[in-house]
Amino acid sequence: MIYRDKVSNYENVDGDGEQDLTALGFLFDAAAAKAWVRHKFQAPTTGPFDCHAEDKDLRSSIEVEVQVIADEDGPGALQTGQRTWPAAPFLAQYLVEHWAGITFDRKCEVLELGAGCGLVGLTLAQLSGVDTIIMTDHDPGSLKLIQEGIFRNQHRWRDGVRCEISHMEWGKELNRQIVSLVNIERVNAEHGSCKEGIMLLLVGSDLVYSLDVVESLFKTVADLFRHRDESGRGRGQFLLCGSFALGDEIEKRVAEVTERLKLCTERLILGREDERRGMWITKYNLA
Ligand SMILES: C[S@@+](CC[C@H](N)C(=O)[O-])C[C@H]1O[C@@H](n2cnc3c(N)ncnc32)[C@H](O)[C@@H]1O
Repeated sequence: MIYRDKVSNYENVDGDGEQDLTALGFLFDAAAAKAWVRHKFQAPTTGPFDCHAEDKDLRSSIEVEVQVIADEDGPGALQTGQRTWPAAPFLAQYLVEHWAGITFDRKCEVLELGAGCGLVGLTLAQLSGVDTIIMTDHDPGSLKLIQEGIFRNQHRWRDGVRCEISHMEWGKELNRQIVSLVNIERVNAEHGSCKEGIMLLLVGSDLVYSLDVVESLFKTVADLFRHRDESGRGRGQFLLCGSFALGDEIEKRVAEVTERLKLCTERLILGREDERRGMWITKYNLA
């Protein structure tokens, strides 16, 4: 099975079923066969990552493999993060292409929310300046896929990149691993408190699909920013990408909740063709 589109090429690599899957996630996910899918992302010129390849074409592209449920059209597949949603390769490609303009050469620590099978996070682990990356989800089955993805891809990133998984349920108290990642005193102690600081980049793709998730998702985002630094405006940003229109009711709820939580909102400008396909990316940070 080979898919191609403008954003990325992804290829089912071996399609072997995993018989001994013990994930505690959704029942149909646990029973489903898994497959490795390879994605390729293109940087505009030379890549924004630490690659020593002599060949310019290799330097300007990034390959990532993610494990997903093999039958993406099977029963229940629509409810799961154990497949790649359309916003994930779109956001990964956007980040690869615009990396310099997002980080301004600052080091950054990344937290992916609702990571599913981890495509965005596993791509970011290859970009320059990324120091630590934690991919989170509330579904243990997804976390297991991401862990497999870390083993499969780690030869692609430079030594010293810290890449982990963590269970996180939006709206609930942050666990110690995550509080430690976002804690500004720890960041200052490890990196020295420099003027620009280390950026906290939160990313998420296709996370908003019902009214129910809006309050808890943005509460978690605001909590993460506040743990980072009450006064450190501009040091953190959340890039949320979607592949379909949310509808008036959800849009209205998002606007109410983000205003109440004092999150600034900026809709990024994408190409007309991408917008026609329903793609959008919104940036949030502390007001
Ligand atoms: C539509 S999937 C998108 C997955 C992935 N980001 C992608 O684009 O392929 C939504 C993801 O959010 C996770 N999720 C949903 N509700 C959540 C919650 N309350 N707390 C944490 N994760 C949640 C799901 O387990 C799933 O992985």
